[in-house]
Order: sequence, then structure tokens, then C-alpha cells
Amino acid sequence: MIKKMKTKQKYCVITGATSGIGFESSVYLAQLGYSLILIARNKSKLLEMKSNLEEIYKIDCIIIISDLSVSGACTKISNYITKEKLNVYIVMCNAGFGDYGDFKDSSYSKTLEMMELNMTSVVDLTYQLLPKVILSKGHILFVSSIAGFIPIPYMSVYAATKSFILSLSLSLREELKPFNVNVSVLCPGPTKTAFFNKANAQKISSNQKLMSARDVARIGVDAMFKQKSIIVPTFKLKLMIFMRRCISLSLLTKISGTMIRLK
Ligand SMILES: NC(=O)c1ccc[n+]([C@@H]2O[C@H](COP(=O)([O-])OP(=O)(O)OC[C@H]3O[C@@H](n4cnc5c(N)ncnc54)[C@H](OP(=O)(O)O)[C@@H]3O)[C@@H](O)[C@H]2O)c1
Repeated sequence: MIKKMKTKQKYCVITGATSGIGFESSVYLAQLGYSLILIARNKSKLLEMKSNLEEIYKIDCIIIISDLSVSGACTKISNYITKEKLNVYIVMCNAGFGDYGDFKDSSYSKTLEMMELNMTSVVDLTYQLLPKVILSKGHILFVSSIAGFIPIPYMSVYAATKSFILSLSLSLREELKPFNVNVSVLCPGPTKTAFFNKANAQKISSNQKLMSARDVARIGVDAMFKQKSIIVPTFKLKLMIFMRRCISLSLLTKISGTMIRLK
């Protein structure tokens, strides 16, 4: 952990800050004048971000090198933030990955790691940092996916983790309203990041129009400040979610499985 103590500033905790949507959200929040607590595993990328963001935007950028899929990681992060008396205003739970392929042939250890990162670490970090967000009357921004609305055969566990996040977000939003804490959930569609390569799903992304991570991040952060509940970045995706009401979930699952297989 690399430290620098400034207690009066508003800090945004961002997981998965070194790439894609997390990276672009970090840059945008720095541009808006927020100080940052960036979490990921890639130390050199975090160091580079700290140096650039502090120099360009004159904010404080604390980096925490952590593998969030490992038990106890969130406790260490929370203890550090408490020790340094940092004022946490935003928690953005963004780190996550997917895995494409037949469930029966998948690596079970990779599946467990995905569940730890995409779900357990999100609950853990939120639970641990919540007293600080209540104190600052701040925001929690969860990153789910369009996959949170529709089961996806051949990405079955990933879609289920994102459904978990969507449900968690909506419930906590209601629970935390009396405490003046806003909870929003960002549900991106296919976005140009390292996600598809890491998920062995290059062929899914290759013939689709992908949104830029920069656009998704900005739409997400702006809508969070407007206290939107579910943030779906495009009209086309909103329409898709609306259409879901007109068709049975079983049929929709069959269609999504067929589509993903045909790509
Ligand atoms: N791209 C899409 O099409 C898409 C669509 C819908 C939703 N999403 C969601 O958006 C979120 C961000 O994904 P992305 O597309 O921006 O992917 P990405 O470019 O692969 O970024 C993932 C980030 O998570 C971090 N990370 C991965 N494993 C970690 C671990 N064990 N501990 C700590 N950090 C870890 C990575 O950093 P390190 O490697 O440095 O740890 C990286 O910064 C994910 O939750 C994803 O499910 C993506």
C-alpha cells in the first residue's frame, strides 16, 4: 500500500481501476476534482496512474495493490482507510471478469474466483465501507451488466453474478435512502475493453458495435450523481430490456444462448 494522508478531501474508492470502465471512471472523477483510492492487482499500471492523475488534475491518488478475489482483501483495504481517516464519498464496485464456454467443461477454480470477485468482494467491500459512506452522505456505484437482466447460456455463471449485483443494488438503494446514501447500478452492454479477451470471448465482440469505455464511464458517473437507479447507457439497450417484459424468460434465454453460439 502506498500512502498519502489527506483527511478533508472527498475520496472515491474504485475497484478494477487499471483498465476499461474502471480506468476511464478514475480519470473522469479526477477531472471532476475528486481524490481517488484506486484498487487493482497491476502495480506498475497503478503507479503510472497515480503519477499522471496527481500531476494533471492536482488531486490525491492513493493506490492499493490487492487481489480482491482473495479472502480478507477487503478487510485490509477498510482497515487502511480507517487508519488514515480518509473521507470516503463514493465507492465504485467495478472489478469483475467473465468466462465464456460450456459450464460442464469450465475450470471450477476460475468459476469460484469469478464468484469471489464479482459477488463476494462487492458485498464485503460495501459492508465494510458503508459506515463511511453514510457519514459522508455519498454514493455507491455498482457495475452490473446487461447480462444482469437476461440469463446467458455459455456465460451462465457470469450472467448470474451480474444478476446478483443488480438485485443487491436495488435492495440496498431502498435500505439506504433514509441515510441519504445514493445507490446506483451501471449496466453496460458490450464495451471495448480487455473484458472479452480475458473471458475467451473474442468472437462475441468481433462482429458487434462496441461502446467506448470512456463513454460508458462518463454516462455512469454522471447518472450516479443524478441519483439514477439503473443506468443503461444506450436507447437500444433500454429498448432491449423493455422488450424483455413482452417475452417469456425461458424463450429469451433460448434466444440469447442461440445468439451467443452463432457468433
Ligand atoms: N466490457 C464489457 O463489455 C462489459 C459489459 C458489461 C459489464 N462489464 C463489467 O464492467 C466491469 C469492468 O470490466 P471492463 O470491461 O472494464 O474489463 P477490464 O478492462 O478487463 O477491467 C477489469 C478490471 O478489474 C481488475 N481486476 C480483475 N481481477 C481483479 C482482482 N482479482 N482483484 C482486483 N482487481 C481485479 C483489473 O485490474 P488488474 O488486472 O490490474 O487487477 C481491471 O482493472 C466488470 O465488472 C464487467 O463485468 C463489462
